[in-house]
Amino acid sequence: MSAAGSAERAGPPLWLLAELTYRCPLHCVFCSNPLDYARHDTEMNTAQWLDVLSQARAMGAVQLGLSGGEPLLRDDLEEIVAHAHRLGFYINLITSGVGLTEARARALKEAGLDHIQLSFQDSTRELNDFLSSTRTFELKSKVAAIIKKLGYPMVLNCVMHRYNLPHVGRIIAMAESMGAEFLELANTQYYGWAWLNRDALMPTREDLADAEAIVDHHRARLAGRMKILWVSPDYQDAKPKACMNGWGAVFMLVAPDGAALPCHSARMLPGLDIPFVQRQPLREIWYDSSTFNRYRGSAWMSDTCRSCDEHERDFGGCRCQAYLLTGSAEATDPVCPKSPDRPLVDRLIAKAGASHAPSEHPLKFVPNAARHGALVYRTDGNSRELCATSGMESSCSASTV
Ligand code: FES
Repeated sequence: MSAAGSAERAGPPLWLLAELTYRCPLHCVFCSNPLDYARHDTEMNTAQWLDVLSQARAMGAVQLGLSGGEPLLRDDLEEIVAHAHRLGFYINLITSGVGLTEARARALKEAGLDHIQLSFQDSTRELNDFLSSTRTFELKSKVAAIIKKLGYPMVLNCVMHRYNLPHVGRIIAMAESMGAEFLELANTQYYGWAWLNRDALMPTREDLADAEAIVDHHRARLAGRMKILWVSPDYQDAKPKACMNGWGAVFMLVAPDGAALPCHSARMLPGLDIPFVQRQPLREIWYDSSTFNRYRGSAWMSDTCRSCDEHERDFGGCRCQAYLLTGSAEATDPVCPKSPDRPLVDRLIAKAGASHAPSEHPLKFVPNAARHGALVYRTDGNSRELCATSGMESSCSASTV
């Protein structure tokens, strides 16, 4: 596909996700950051971020997500928010809550922050603290009260997996008691650290069906008071998701070091010439770079996808998932029933059904732990260890199932 041809067809990037830092006080076993984040440890300065925001807004971007790592670790967060607000962005802070004092929440509100999405790992202290290897449960509860007190919309997010699916009713009750208007129950997507920990995190079909029935019950009960979004798990879905609404269609992520990416995981895909915002104007990156044009449109698709009516809706599914599962980013997303690789996914689901329940491995909280049984925590040390040598590159990307 020619860059010029793509430029004519591509609309503007409507949604910019600014990953301000990979630094994070938590060590979640399902973190979506790249496994090798520790080797991308430079961070853009304030002026560089403000320039990125200005360029994105001039191109038509309207939604700004500020995430990380933990974005509150940036001392210039208020300045970044104020600039984004002056530009007219709708600004969402995606945070663990660590570092969000009442004074800081007020300052961010005055700077123009619209929305805070607070993550919880579970409704119990034991599991929340175990999964993040930090004692943060009480602190998050206090932060939720601050968010409510200052009149932000109360949006809670919880990543769901085999450990906490049995608690889904209690997670909903916790969100209700906190006065949340919106609860996102996002089933784990297997990228980054979740890919590494997939076998331990993956639920059985029964776990999911039980949890979904509980969600349906509470959704009906709480109608008009709290919206519950259930993000269904890719592998168990009957259809591939329209990942990012299509590659290079509406979404752009800028990583802490200035790498511009079409999705959270694209950096691991082989053969991409990753553009950097310090070296090229954003407009050029979006419309003309080989990376953003790589999977636009349908020219790159396999015959299976191109001949299927669904490709106008699912855009061929997820390139990163195809790569992780098959070793080819051009392959039909193996979640699709028409994919010749669907048996790979079915085998993983069957394996989850046959493996031990997490309760057979007692949860022992250890602050700043590196590992617990089969689980590997997201730590700088583990990141460096996994990806320090070229011989271990495969740990950072595709592996056989
Ligand atoms: Fe990269 Fe889906 S996560 S294309």
